[in-house]
Amino acid sequence: MAVEFKAGLKDVIAVNSSICTVDGEAGKLYYRGYSITDLARYATYEEVVHLLWQGELPTRTQLETLTAQLIQARPLPEPVLASMRTYPKTAHALEALRTAVSVVGLYDPDAHSTAPDATLRKAVRLTAQIPVMVGAWHRLRQGAAPVAPRGEGPTAENFLHVLAGKPPSAVAARTMDMIFVLHADHEINASTFATRVAIATFTDLHSAIVAAIGTLKGPRHGGANEDVLAMLLEIGDPGNAEQYIQRRLLARAQMSHEERAKPENRIPGFGHPVYKVDDPRAGVLREMARQVSQEAGTMKLFDTATKVYETMHRETDLPVNVDFFSAVVYYALGIPIDLCTSIFASARISGWCAHAMEQYHDRLIRPRAHYTGPPPRAFVPLKERQ
Ligand SMILES: CC(C)(COP(=O)(O)OP(=O)(O)OC[C@H]1O[C@@H](n2cnc3c(N)ncnc32)[C@H](O)[C@@H]1OP(=O)(O)O)[C@@H](O)C(=O)NCCC(=O)NCCS
Repeated sequence: MAVEFKAGLKDVIAVNSSICTVDGEAGKLYYRGYSITDLARYATYEEVVHLLWQGELPTRTQLETLTAQLIQARPLPEPVLASMRTYPKTAHALEALRTAVSVVGLYDPDAHSTAPDATLRKAVRLTAQIPVMVGAWHRLRQGAAPVAPRGEGPTAENFLHVLAGKPPSAVAARTMDMIFVLHADHEINASTFATRVAIATFTDLHSAIVAAIGTLKGPRHGGANEDVLAMLLEIGDPGNAEQYIQRRLLARAQMSHEERAKPENRIPGFGHPVYKVDDPRAGVLREMARQVSQEAGTMKLFDTATKVYETMHRETDLPVNVDFFSAVVYYALGIPIDLCTSIFASARISGWCAHAMEQYHDRLIRPRAHYTGPPPRAFVPLKERQ
């Protein structure tokens, strides 16, 4: 039966899901019915992980149990650290993470099981280990030894600890926790869809997460985060922002459609396949960016971002997306530019796992192609080909 072709599956409802929904017209995002602004304000990341995986906010006992499981799962198996020591120091942090997740899968005691209880145990381990891997890689590539994860405290705070090798300030820890809450899930975005396509074949969780990380890496998805920071640093001063944006928009207007579609010819941090108005996470992040920039003395970058945002609003109807102000937050927290997408992965792992657990109960995802090739034709033997 022929089904209408939708380029990029735009707006196609591809799966049933009870995890997360986006109202693109109103600029709203909900995890299991709770608005993202409420969750960012009132919930911790661990509460959100429970919500995404189990469907409800945890009781105190449930929260303590999950938190203890996550803490216990933090240390990386020694062979994983040994393999990380062999990666080229030039590897991008997300490439190192993608590889380390593949390696840790080799040592996972539940590696080959797709049973619900085994998948949940693997979800706990991956959610605990991925932020530790990011921190370990950052230290290894600088020639420093990885620091052991803490045997207590929240996941996001521990991430900052393993990254810097010392405990973060209370403000930095709370900020990172909110960042993790805001990035934990986002409906059927590209990397989540990649997870679900992989899981729908009944492959194991680690294989699906490797696919997800590879998909997150692209500049049309998580990679935009790093491009935002690069752009803001290139602009350098709030006074240059308006002219810079106008120049780039003018240059775009003179390009072919194909040229305009290239990531390098777009303004990173703006535009979204679902949101028609500003992404609700961007509002929370903007406020957060203002506070941490003030504390860190990096208001110049925040003011530059604000000018870019105002100019984009005036000159285009493109909504601001999650990547824009989060980049400003990372800069204020002193996080290196090329770790932005790995932080995204460190939080999104919980959402990927939630979707994996849901998808195991669903069917194979196997769409059709709108064929644009030649019609059936006679085979030409090699000796007769010109
Ligand atoms: C996210 C993104 C891939 C969504 O793309 P999409 O919904 O498929 O939108 P389209 O590619 O159909 O773009 C629609 C129009 O808006 C323009 N547009 C979209 N995002 C733009 C941006 N960031 N800067 C300038 N123009 C943009 C497109 O060029 C196109 O106009 P055109 O046909 O005149 O060239 C796109 O907005 C983008 O590349 N943004 C920058 C990267 C980014 O921030 N990604 C993070 C997403 S969370």
